[in-house]
Amino acid sequence: PRARGLVVAIDGPAGAGKSTVSRRLAARLGYTLVDTGALYRAIALAAREIGISWDDGPGLGSLARRLPLALEPSEEGSRVIVDGEDRSSDIRTPEISQGASIVSQHPDVRVALLDLQRRLGAEGGVVLEGRDIGTVVFPDAEVKVFLTASDEERARRRTAELQARGAAQPIDQVLAEIRERDRRDSTRPIAPLKPARDAITVDTTALDLDAVVETLVGIVRGASSTR
Ligand code: DC
Repeated sequence: PRARGLVVAIDGPAGAGKSTVSRRLAARLGYTLVDTGALYRAIALAAREIGISWDDGPGLGSLARRLPLALEPSEEGSRVIVDGEDRSSDIRTPEISQGASIVSQHPDVRVALLDLQRRLGAEGGVVLEGRDIGTVVFPDAEVKVFLTASDEERARRRTAELQARGAAQPIDQVLAEIRERDRRDSTRPIAPLKPARDAITVDTTALDLDAVVETLVGIVRGASSTR
C-alpha cells in the first residue's frame, strides 16, 4: 500500500521563525500546514469581542467548544476562519499574542482544541506548528523538531516582522513581551512549552531562512527513508 505522508511536529518559543519555516517546509514537501497558535489566537480574539475574560477558564472552555473554527491553507500560511469570517490579520497583533498565551493556560481551552488539532493532522502529510505538538497533540509524530533561537535574535526578527506590517514597536518592548510569553508558556502546569524527549533541537540564531528550511527538509527525508 502507498505510505501516507508523515506527521511533522514543529514546536518552539515565540519568534523562533516557526511560521515562516513551517510554511516553506510544507510547500517543499507538498504537505498541509496547520498553525495551531492561530486557534488559541482566535479564542483570545473572540473572547475579547464577546466580553469573556481571558482569566475565565470555564467560560473560555465553553467558547472553545462552541466556536466554529477552521484553518484553510493559503499562500501566506494558515488562514483562520472564525464563525465563517476570515480573521487571519486580526489575530496577529501584540495584544492577541499575549491573549493567546493567557487563554492557552486554561486546561478547558486546551482540551477543547485537542480534537480539532488531531483531526487536522490525522491523514498525515502535514506540518503542525505550535508549543505542544510533539509532546501532547501528536506524541507519535514521525518527525519532531524544536526550533529555537536566542531571545535577542527572536526579538530582532519579530521587530522586523511587525515593522513590515506597518505596526512597528521598539525592540526592547518586543523583547520584554517575548520573554513574558515564553515564561508563561513554559511554566504552565498543562502542556508546557518544552522539547519532546525525542525532538531534534535546531538553534536558528546563526542560520538564515533557507538554511533552516534545508536542515528541516533533510530531517524529514531522513525520517521518511528509515520508515
Ligand atoms: O505560535 P503563536 O505565537 O501563534 O502562539 C500563540 C500562543 O498560543 C502561544 O504564546 C501559546 C499558545 N499556543 C499553545 O499553547 N499551544 C500551541 N500548540 C500553540 C500555541
